Amino acid sequence: MKTKATYQTWIRIYKLLIFFGISIMLLLTALLPVHLYVRVLSGVLALPFLYITFILSYSVYQFAEFGGNYQSKIHDVLVAKVNWDGNGKVLDIGTGSGSLIIKLAKAFPMSTLAGIDYWGGNWEYSKAKCQQNAEIEGVSDKITFLKASASELPFHDDEFEVIVSCLTFHEVKDRKNKTEVIEEALRVLKPAGQFVFLDLFMDKTVFGDEKELLNTLKQRGVSELTSYKLDEVIELPTLLLNKKVLGNAMILTGRKEVIV
Ligand SMILES: C[S@@+](CC[C@H](N)C(=O)[O-])C[C@H]1O[C@@H](n2cnc3c(N)ncnc32)[C@H](O)[C@@H]1O
Repeated sequence: MKTKATYQTWIRIYKLLIFFGISIMLLLTALLPVHLYVRVLSGVLALPFLYITFILSYSVYQFAEFGGNYQSKIHDVLVAKVNWDGNGKVLDIGTGSGSLIIKLAKAFPMSTLAGIDYWGGNWEYSKAKCQQNAEIEGVSDKITFLKASASELPFHDDEFEVIVSCLTFHEVKDRKNKTEVIEEALRVLKPAGQFVFLDLFMDKTVFGDEKELLNTLKQRGVSELTSYKLDEVIELPTLLLNKKVLGNAMILTGRKEVIV
């Protein structure tokens, strides 16, 4: 049995390898004794692929425990935003390898917790990895891990006191309108319960206009709605603020209104 939990970073290694492979192929072509036009074209085409390979590799380093450990630090920020007495149920939507829900289990020892994820083949996370990590961290008796889609949560209305989600809504492929995925999360939140969501909410191509999103949430019965740009709550290396990494990241917190 392993003695240390391991948490994959938010960067998919297979994607990094694809960009790296294409960069190398283009660079090698630029060195071949072929027509000068082909060599120059290959060299020029290699530049954006090299740039993306560099950004992705740098991000892996900064997110990983062996580097800047920013993934864990960002999860700590989310845990710190949970304002709760710790009695009741917590849900993490898109739990990945369990890092955030395990931190919550430790921060709120009286709670019972659930982590759901779709764990598709295009990600390097798995349910088995979550369970192994929870065991190593000594919280496996408190957390249930379930395979499910964020677009259709296998829970009753009003089940959870706290719901968190980190960089998952924008990844949900089986629902085009991502606001509906957020609404599905709110469905299973108890009245007066709190949510803390981190996602690329400033990316208009995914979530539409940010102000409209906030207004929609208010109209759907969210109170105490607060938004923070990620770099307002944690100092990040400049390159992580690239739009392709966390440049559009924002935390939304709020509560589901109690209807009287
Ligand atoms: C960037 S990772 C974040 C993982 C984790 N929240 C964290 O912070 O470490 C995105 C996660 O979304 C999950 N995901 C993608 N589509 C999903 C869906 N339809 N329902 C639930 N989870 C999904 C992926 O499997 C992956 O674990």
